[in-house]
Amino acid sequence: MKFSTTASLLLAVSTATTAFGFSPVSTSFVKQTNTISNTRYSSFNTNITPRTMSKRDASLISMNAVTVGVVGATGAVGKEIVDCLNKSSLDVSKLRIFGSSRSAGSTRDAGKFGEVPVELFDVAAARECDVVFLAVSGDFALEHAKAISEGDDGAVVIDNSSAFRYDKDIPLVVPEINGECTKGAKLIANPNCTTAIGLMALYPLHKLFKLKRVIMSTYQAASGAGQPGMDELQEGTRAVLSGEREVAENKIFAHPLPFNVIPHIDKFQENGYTKEEMKVTWECRKICGLPDDFPVSCTAVRIPTYRAHSETIIVETEEPVDIEAARKAFEEAPGIKLMDDTANEIYPMPLTATGQYDVEVGRIRKSLVFGDNGLEFFVVGDQLLRGAALNAVLVAEEMAKNGSL
Ligand SMILES: NC(=O)c1ccc[n+]([C@@H]2O[C@H](COP(=O)([O-])OP(=O)(O)OC[C@H]3O[C@@H](n4cnc5c(N)ncnc54)[C@H](OP(=O)(O)O)[C@@H]3O)[C@@H](O)[C@H]2O)c1
Repeated sequence: MKFSTTASLLLAVSTATTAFGFSPVSTSFVKQTNTISNTRYSSFNTNITPRTMSKRDASLISMNAVTVGVVGATGAVGKEIVDCLNKSSLDVSKLRIFGSSRSAGSTRDAGKFGEVPVELFDVAAARECDVVFLAVSGDFALEHAKAISEGDDGAVVIDNSSAFRYDKDIPLVVPEINGECTKGAKLIANPNCTTAIGLMALYPLHKLFKLKRVIMSTYQAASGAGQPGMDELQEGTRAVLSGEREVAENKIFAHPLPFNVIPHIDKFQENGYTKEEMKVTWECRKICGLPDDFPVSCTAVRIPTYRAHSETIIVETEEPVDIEAARKAFEEAPGIKLMDDTANEIYPMPLTATGQYDVEVGRIRKSLVFGDNGLEFFVVGDQLLRGAALNAVLVAEEMAKNGSL
């Protein structure tokens, strides 16, 4: 409902926390498939109880019905946003989906919202919505996001690109960490997928032992490059296995991805890191309100999996680490599934994390390098969900709760 004045009764239930100086960013900026591959690996997930959208009480969601727009609903992230909206407690009165001239005029099966026509994107039409999810490029977001959101009658925009993540006036949000930053905001940035997945595990640890430095190595799926990335992996693998080609063709990735790993995601920066790697450093600091020089370093590698990003994370902590306390914190934290039973060969993997809302955490061990003040573990999360669509829909849920929608 546009112009919602039901300044929510629910403000008091904000779940954000600022424990251990992990204080979220300031709120002073306020006001201003083919259904992908979900079914492909579903047999691996049959023993996993599906979680609801969040561990929060669905009754806390504002009762205001909202009109939702998804721009890029034919892409990898956009499709998942529509799926998450189907499962969300958000009261969606109408779903509109927007695309380019490539898909405009066609229709998409949007689950409980029925067969929805793809409208050619238009700022004025998007502004008619209460909330608009952008699942398009950064350039597109730079061109249109503010025009959609500006003014009292603009829509709330939740952007999945990196366009606004480092703008100090725009909240960069993982709802479980700094969800209160959404209050009153009209434009929200969703974090980089690798960052969002890693922070789900890092945040509970920080609350317990206070992080001193973080080192991360990633193993990132082809779908991180969107639907075209998935298509290139699938087609390239088929061409090699059928004997049609010795080495797969590459247009999306810097080198052929099938039967290879590529230590290069996004552009190289002057300091030798890639932009994908620096996003982890910059965004961990901003989301958690850490100092600008807080040491976080990442090596990001593309691997020939279809979906879900994996991360080896090594932390040094200010306080000595208690492994059992760490395990308990992971168990209790919203959005995490503990998969740490090496005797039974249970640990996080892309095949089990795919299609799951929770981020898997396992291989938890005291660090041989940092001793009593260090921990090493492995994290896998479905980057199209926690690293994009799910996080974005959880942001909208948070905003419905705090009266910003
Ligand atoms: N893939 C990931 O794991 C991931 C994770 C986090 C964030 N992100 C970010 O999310 C955004 C979307 O990524 P993706 O992976 O979903 O990309 P994708 O699969 O390539 O999809 C791109 C979407 O953008 C739409 N689009 C392109 N030009 C348009 C225009 N002029 N007007 C309206 N719609 C237009 C396309 O619609 P048509 O089919 O109609 O052209 C398509 O639906 C990017 O900013 C990306 O960096 C991606």
